[in-house]
This record gives sequence, C-alpha cells and structure tokens, in this order.
Amino acid sequence: MKSLMMQGTRILSTGSAVPNSSLNNSQISEIVETSDEWIVTRTGIEERRLLTGMNKSVVDLAVLAALKALDKISMSPSEIDLIILATSSPNDLFGSASQIQSKIKALNAVAFDLTAACSGFVLSMVTASQFLKSGTYRTILVIGADVLSKWIDWSDRSTCILFGDGAGAMILQSCPQKDNQILGFQLNTDGSYSNHLSLLYKEQVYPHPVLNLYQGSFKYISMNGKEVYKFAVSQVPISILKCLNSLNISTHDVNWLLLHQANERILKAIADKLCISNNKIIVNLNKYGNTSAASIPIAFDEALTENKISNNDIIVISGFGAGLTWGTIIIKWKS
Ligand code: ACO
Repeated sequence: MKSLMMQGTRILSTGSAVPNSSLNNSQISEIVETSDEWIVTRTGIEERRLLTGMNKSVVDLAVLAALKALDKISMSPSEIDLIILATSSPNDLFGSASQIQSKIKALNAVAFDLTAACSGFVLSMVTASQFLKSGTYRTILVIGADVLSKWIDWSDRSTCILFGDGAGAMILQSCPQKDNQILGFQLNTDGSYSNHLSLLYKEQVYPHPVLNLYQGSFKYISMNGKEVYKFAVSQVPISILKCLNSLNISTHDVNWLLLHQANERILKAIADKLCISNNKIIVNLNKYGNTSAASIPIAFDEALTENKISNNDIIVISGFGAGLTWGTIIIKWKS
C-alpha cells in the first residue's frame, strides 16, 4: 500500500547537450544587417549552437542529454517511471517524448510532451514534483529541449540573433521530506498578451473547394521584443518575491539566481530589482543564446559541473516567455 505521507523531491542527476555547429555574431552579420557590438550590448549573446544536417531533430539532443544524466549516476533507464519533454519545437506534433522513451530504452516509462516555450522546464519540473509528492511515481526524467533555429525567420534580425538549440535533462526522485530539495513554486499565465511572442499556425487564404476547410502550417517566431522585455523585468521579480515570501526566505538568503537565459540585460534588471548581487546570477547565454526550454537545465548542469553550487545553497529558478507564462521554483541544494 502506498504511504499517505507526502514525499519530497530530490534532484539525482543532470545532463546537457548542444550541437557542435556554432554561429557567432560576426557570422550572423553576414546574413542580416547587424553587428557583434549591437548584439552583445543589447543581449550579452556572443554565439549560439545550431542543429545542422538532415533529419536531425530535438529528439537527438534530448536523448544525448538524458543519457548523460543517466550515465552520471549509473542508473538503468528501466528505473524511470515517467518522462516529461518540455519542448515547443517537436519533430512530431503528436508528441516527441515517446521517441525518447524508445531511444533510451526507458521501457517502463510513461512519456508525454509539455508545451510552454521558455517556461516549459519550470512547468515540467513542477508537474514532475506533483507526481513524486503524491507517491504516484518514484523516478522522473524531465527534459527541456528546443531547436528554435528551425522556426526562425533567418531574415528577421530582431529574432534570429536571439535563439540557439540545445537540451538539458534532470532526473528527479521521491525522497523522505527531510531530504526534499524543491521548497516551493509559483506559476502564472496571462494569455491576453500571447500575441507578444508566438509561433502561429497560419491558414491558407483559400479553403478546400468542397469542404470549406482551411488548412495551413506553422510559420516563424514572431515577437514584440520591447513588450516581452518589459513583461519579464516587471513580472518575474514579483513571482520570485511571492515564492520567497511564502517560504519565509529573504532575498539576502538567495545564493543563486538561475533564470531563463533570454538576455543578460533582463537577468541583471531582475537581480537589481530584487537587490540581489549580479555575481549571484548564473549566466551562460553568451555561449548558447536563448535555448528556450533547454536554457535552465543546461545552465544548471554547467553550474554543477563547475562546482558553483554548494550544500544548502538556495537557488531561485525562474522561467518566462511565450504564453505569456512565467514561474519560479525555489530549491535548497543538498549534495
Ligand atoms: N541588429 C541591429 N539593429 C537591430 C537589430 C539587430 N539585430 N534588431 C533590431 N534592431 C534595430 C531596430 O530596427 C531599431 O531600429 P530603429 O530605432 O531604427 O527602429 C533599434 O535596433 C532598436 O530596436 P529595439 O527593438 O527597440 O531594441 P531593444 O533595445 O528593445 O532590443 C531585443 C531588442 C534585444 C530583442 C530586446 O527587446 C529583448 O531582448 N527583448 C526580450 C526578448 C526575449 O527575451 N524573448 C524571448 C522570451 S523567451 C520565449 O518564450 C521564447
């Protein structure tokens, strides 16, 4: 019989993968009218990785990241009960998570996709923690992966400079409450601003002659950069404060800000609003650009590899982006 005690959540392992092919700002300036100076001063991005070559998809990157996370702890894929793939760039609109389940041979795992753009990883982690808390599942693989290079209009300089491809994975497991690492979360959606950042299905002008049925296809990312910027800088600090307050944690107790890697100016403005020192911000967007759902788990994996994070550190994770959606998770790290 399942225990009625609520379980805690532990982060057992992380892994990440980015494509080998990189595109720096000087190379982008050969494609659109821009410059390294403009991109670096406005965003902090110096280069990004692109998934090039035929028949490569988000699944390839997600599988690599997942296998790295499994290898680190010598875990058999058969131990995984659930796989959640946060992506907005699947290679199958019916879902890509099941392909990952098959490729990594996680034969006992249920698998599904979760679509929430750059907030996808935060929403997936929270979803996973609910399954763990209730005792429904014991071990969950959460992956954030996106290949937005496939959905960018490469003649639009206002968006093509921002995004890169990548994947990050995290293995979560239920644990006794005393070992719990996810202290709390706070989530938000405001669909009235969905037009500020979208990748819309566009119908053809003429319907099917007999059925009066309009068909179409997905086109490119469209973004009102200024509005997204204002939204992130105004709303994310509120979410973080609400979450910290609900846990009686002061901003002074925060050791790390691990925010969605959208734009260095956004990250610094959020830290400044919270009076959190800039040297507590985890940043790697200079190397990868905005990798959407992958940005938080890649940055987390790198911070752990670089031994930045110490026992009992308080880590504030915040995702924000299309939807508009945004949210915060507070973690207490236990090595
Ligand atoms: N190179 C050179 N000039 C450019 C470029 C470029 N790549 N892009 C725009 N410009 C020009 C514009 O045309 C404009 O020129 P104008 O004044 O003659 O009209 C000028 O630079 C200023 O443009 P703005 O859009 O006002 O520039 P801004 O300072 O707002 O920076 C940016 C643009 C970097 C996109 C910023 O608004 C931003 O980072 N916004 C947030 C975007 C974001 O993070 N989106 C992802 C969210 S996560 C998700 O869910 C996917």
